[in-house]
Amino acid sequence: MTATIPPITVPGDKSIAHRALILAALARGTSRLRNVPAGLDVRSTQRALRALGASIAEDGDAMVVTGTGGALATPGEPIDCGNSGTTIRLLAGVLATRPVTVTLDGDASLRARPMRRIAAPLEAFGAQIALTPYGTAPFVVRGNGDARGAEVEIVVASAQVKSAVLFAALNAHGRTRVTGQLATRDHTERLFRAYGMTCEADDGALVVEGPQIPQACDFDVPGDVSSAAFLLAAAAVVPGARAVVEDVGLNPTRIAFLDVLRRFGAQVDVTPASFGEEPRGRIAVRGASLRAIVVEPGEVPGLIDELPLVGVLGAFARGTTVVTGASELRVKESDRIETFARAARTIGVEVETFEDGFAVHGPARFRSGSVVTAGDHRIAMAFSVAARAAGIEVRLDDPDCMAVSFPGFTGALERVA
Ligand code: S3P
Repeated sequence: MTATIPPITVPGDKSIAHRALILAALARGTSRLRNVPAGLDVRSTQRALRALGASIAEDGDAMVVTGTGGALATPGEPIDCGNSGTTIRLLAGVLATRPVTVTLDGDASLRARPMRRIAAPLEAFGAQIALTPYGTAPFVVRGNGDARGAEVEIVVASAQVKSAVLFAALNAHGRTRVTGQLATRDHTERLFRAYGMTCEADDGALVVEGPQIPQACDFDVPGDVSSAAFLLAAAAVVPGARAVVEDVGLNPTRIAFLDVLRRFGAQVDVTPASFGEEPRGRIAVRGASLRAIVVEPGEVPGLIDELPLVGVLGAFARGTTVVTGASELRVKESDRIETFARAARTIGVEVETFEDGFAVHGPARFRSGSVVTAGDHRIAMAFSVAARAAGIEVRLDDPDCMAVSFPGFTGALERVA
């Protein structure tokens, strides 16, 4: 099945690239990072790390990062994290235990997103984080350069919050023990190991002994499975259509979407290629006539970024597709429950919304329409998939927002057979 159609590659994984760049910037020595995606979010992290004293240069298909060894510069002006929640939250963690005072800011969407979720745990290290009265950015981080390890409970299922705490723990003296909601993507834990550090699982907790300085390394970023998901979905909804995506990340905390595709009725074949700290391989999908599914709350952290796409799949499936336990969708790049529902109704899809999810009644009688993306890249890509598969015209108010994670998406979508 996979031999006859040309495989597609997708940009490098955004989540992994942010972390690999941050650790390279904190390392002693020079790291070479391959397949760093060109999307705007990762550029925000690069810009921020340069402002903090790292040198980052392009060399062919690699980024060469000369680290600071942990001695960060104090930038003269606020760091603009653009649209990127991962940049602002992970950097807040890095800065929390270092002797610097830095203002972090972002675009209008990022300024609307909740930041108390990182401020509270980082204050356990003695950092001071001055949020706006709304609990948002811009905010000043006054790091504590003499921080001690802390006991921190993570109360939101968010890899960004968990990672902020783990980054803070790196420069705190002694043992940091992190408990609570830890079952989210584990790239930070894996990349600590890739950079020669430890982050141990201990009786359901994560333990970091500080201080630890990353050792520079060479790292090849696998393709982003959350970007691949749009191409796989475009094949899944058309009986007999196929997509093969090669060299894509297969981290078990990121691929719950593949199981969802199978439950909808698509055929999914995974061929692991190699196992480093971040597993990778090839994913092939063959489309089918889909039937509705129910996504359980426990599955949500493993496919949080794919949920608008699950809604689109539901519009092609027979029956009612239900997602609950996903109130986090309300605080993403847009309120993804409302943005999805409004866009879906515009093209003829029947949707109900709940505080923590949505139900989609399928199959829809699609019609062409104009979609308000709210500048949200995943909404724009999800409805591009719907347009192609349903053979309708969908006018996006802001198609450029797709460049946040997947420059060239429209061309890649055309390659689904
Ligand atoms: C990310 C974690 C997720 C995800 C985001 C990237 C990360 O956010 O939605 O796109 O790289 O850690 P939360 O951790 O806030 O759920």
